[in-house]
Amino acid sequence: MLDHARALVHFTAGRHGEWRVKDLRDVAGAPLPPTERVSIGIGPALPDPQSGWSLRGVLSHLRYTTADEAARLAALQPPLGRPEASRAALIPISKSAAWWALPQDERRAIYEERSRHTSIGLEYLPRIARRLHHSRELGEPFDFLTWFEFAPEHEAAFDELVARLRASEEWRYVEREVDIRLARSA
Ligand code: HEM
Repeated sequence: MLDHARALVHFTAGRHGEWRVKDLRDVAGAPLPPTERVSIGIGPALPDPQSGWSLRGVLSHLRYTTADEAARLAALQPPLGRPEASRAALIPISKSAAWWALPQDERRAIYEERSRHTSIGLEYLPRIARRLHHSRELGEPFDFLTWFEFAPEHEAAFDELVARLRASEEWRYVEREVDIRLARSA
């Protein structure tokens, strides 16, 4: 399990990899080329001439989480890699210049007080395991790489969660988003 701060994680498209792509949907902004599989690794991606793309992100500190929220998350959130969680979603996201120009307290107000991102997310735990990767400071094409794992019977709940977040004020600042659904290979 990866728990050390600032670990570099890459998601690489190609013909090999533990996760088979079931669906890749360009939700907003520039599209991402389709791929058969995605592999996840720690550290820089190995060069692979056959792979379509490779996205990188780092684990980082919390920005918008209060102590109380952190305790509620810690009590409910499951680890990645549960055997029954054979489905996953990789959702790379970028926010607009208008978002990044806001001061921290206004971003927090939009994120939680008005959009209820953490509160809504908590309703879906422990069904969904998650890990947030930050890419903006690496000069990557996306600001965030969000990763979720769940059992097949919870995919509908995950769809509902994503729809609720996309309807929120926070998502008015999302200018690029790709929704990639995956299944773990046997
Ligand atoms: C499974 C339930 C979820 C929970 C419990 C959850 C919780 C959180 C928390 C606590 C943070 C803030 C981290 C911080 O303090 O810096 C966060 C950030 C974020 N989450 Fe979620 N989340 C969930 C689902 C989702 C989904 C489905 C998406 C994408 C469709 C998503 C996209 C993001 C993004 C992009 C950020 C970074 C926001 C920013 O820093 O501007 N989350 N999430």
